[in-house]
Amino acid sequence: MGAGIAQVSAQTNHKVTLVDLSEKVLTSSEKRIRTSVSRVAKKLFKDDNKASEAFIEDTMGRLSLVSDGGEALASADLVVEAITENLPLKQRLFREWDEVCPEKTILASNTSTLRISDIMKNVKRQDRVGGLHFFNPVPVMKLLEVIRTDSTSDQTFNAMSAWGRAIGKHTVACKDTIGFIVNRLLGPYIQEALAMVERGDATFQDVDAAMKLGAGYPMGPFELLDYTGLDLHKFINENPDHPFRQESKLINSMVEQGKLGVKSGEGFYKYK
Ligand code: 3HC
Repeated sequence: MGAGIAQVSAQTNHKVTLVDLSEKVLTSSEKRIRTSVSRVAKKLFKDDNKASEAFIEDTMGRLSLVSDGGEALASADLVVEAITENLPLKQRLFREWDEVCPEKTILASNTSTLRISDIMKNVKRQDRVGGLHFFNPVPVMKLLEVIRTDSTSDQTFNAMSAWGRAIGKHTVACKDTIGFIVNRLLGPYIQEALAMVERGDATFQDVDAAMKLGAGYPMGPFELLDYTGLDLHKFINENPDHPFRQESKLINSMVEQGKLGVKSGEGFYKYK
């Protein structure tokens, strides 16, 4: 998701540094971003190849991909963290960033399932923290949930919302509650879909077909699980704090077999 967030920011005239420890991830992210920006350019400029090329190169030119974020952190206006849902690791990183970032920097997390106030527990600048929750695929989904904790200042909340609008998103506000708006509602839906298949009420293919053709959803719940990652769902099931915690033997066994969804090439469906 970090790549998508970096992309939409760079596309809208923001200078962005994408940081990941792995060179391999950086190389694949750059490739993915270029492909995705090309899709956006094709839509924006249709047959105007010159304008399309300029848009792609300008966007890529605003983007740096590095394995050491030190220099970027020293001058960043905004830091958006999008690492795996590992609470102690997130807490450690935000404590470090709080020390090295200048006064002006807003620290934000793209967490799907954790509380922002827990993630920011060790941060001193409690008035300049918040949540910026994006949706997959980030270049396409128009929503951005902007989350404020009890100590987020109005100035910080307004700055995060303004940035969201500047990158072309429709922003909605939510308090720091688990799942925020979208995942709070998607959670029980996905859990019940899994329970139906585990009970043998219907096949996952038929549940997907039913929700697409009968309810107009662009993806069925099992396509969506594959898309967002079965490991993320397993993480939700293991979080004792989570309101939709519900053990799924099916998900556990698939994750054990390395079937994580689109990212691993196989989940409920197979991907090239
Ligand atoms: N980059 C740029 N453009 C892209 C893109 C990408 N990565 N992926 C798709 N697009 C564009 C295409 O160019 C295409 O544009 P066009 O209509 O102008 O030609 C358009 O999006 C549709 O793409 P496709 O024709 O390839 O595919 P679909 O019509 O099947 O749409 C989808 C794909 C947009 C993913 C659609 O299936 C969808 O909306 N699915 C639901 C996604 C969803 O629910 N996301 C939320 C998940 S929950 C979450 O993220 C929360 C987190 O906490 C986990």
